[in-house]
Amino acid sequence: MGIKTIMVVGAGQMGSGIAQVAAQSGYNVILRDITLDLVVRGMNGIKKNLARSVDKGRLTKEEEAEILARFSTTVDLAPAKDADLVIEAIVENLEVKTALFAELDKICPEHTILATNTSSLPITELAAATERPDRFIGMHFMNPVPVMKLVEIINGIATSKETHKAIYDLALAMGKEPVTVEDYPGFVSNRVLMPMINEAIFCLQEGIASKEDIDTVMKLGMNHPMGPLTLADFIGLDTCLYIMEVLYEGYNDPKYRPAPLLRKMVKAGYLGKKTGKGFYDYVS
Ligand code: CAA
Ligand code: NAD
Repeated sequence: MGIKTIMVVGAGQMGSGIAQVAAQSGYNVILRDITLDLVVRGMNGIKKNLARSVDKGRLTKEEEAEILARFSTTVDLAPAKDADLVIEAIVENLEVKTALFAELDKICPEHTILATNTSSLPITELAAATERPDRFIGMHFMNPVPVMKLVEIINGIATSKETHKAIYDLALAMGKEPVTVEDYPGFVSNRVLMPMINEAIFCLQEGIASKEDIDTVMKLGMNHPMGPLTLADFIGLDTCLYIMEVLYEGYNDPKYRPAPLLRKMVKAGYLGKKTGKGFYDYVS
């Protein structure tokens, strides 16, 4: 059975971006978060992005209306019964994600594929919370989803060839460039990116340079579009810390130890752009 209806669980920065691109690609989308406010916030971001595309002449008003008509929103999980695919984009925490997948597994029809947008957690372990590890896969979008072309596709140990093909083809249909990687902590993207960000935080912690200068070195010296500390704020410092913990525990290697300053900032609730304060201050 083909994929027509996609449920996206989590309407934060990643979930709302995934939902937007899915609806723009012609899929019916059910967007779910735990409160109405959070769902509305996610939908407002999507509406703003679509309106910008209309202003820039990339979409007509009619197309914008058609895209918005493909959405339904919910704070319940029950509508998962109508989904051919569920893409999970909630907090980067193994216990919270496994609890969600165990519940989804009970609600979803037999054919439904369960996908996770996790940045680093083991796909095989998340799949083991369900009775359908063959229909379970990692579909790792990059932030901001409407802009970034890459999707990492991660097979768990039991992911079937059919599931992989369905998700690979879906990524193409969503206008993305899929890359298949094996299920190891951090996959490729965050195994390479996050130690660089963590090292930048160590530089700041040790007073080697100011935050602005650390960012300038990587922006002007290496042509990165954002410096590592700006990027950490953009990703979310809680997500960065979870990823470093997963790498540290997963490889049992001290080179992945999270910078104490990163831990301190997360403990203080300074999570970056999404909370208005991280390495930099943001006004909404
Ligand atoms: N949502 C939708 N569109 C967005 C957006 C967002 N959050 N942010 C920017 N854009 C769009 C803008 O609307 C603009 O498009 P148009 O002008 O064509 O309408 C375009 O992107 C460029 O934006 P700006 O001119 O405002 O800014 P910019 O040129 O500096 O680009 C950026 C912004 C694309 C975010 C760029 O700074 C960038 O590429 N940064 C690095 C992003 C990155 O590394 N992402 C990966 C993070 S790691 C990850 O995702 C994996 C993980 O697991 C943690
Ligand atoms: P976020 O904090 O912006 O959003 C997470 C959302 O999930 C919140 O709105 C929260 O209310 C919601 N949520 C939590 N538990 C839920 C539940 N049980 N049901 C429904 N909604 C629930 O986080 P984010 O940056 O969008 O990250 C989401 C996932 O995507 C994480 O696994 C993260 O590692 C991954 N990811 C993040 C990035 C990034 O750059 N931020 C990039 C790629 C992947």
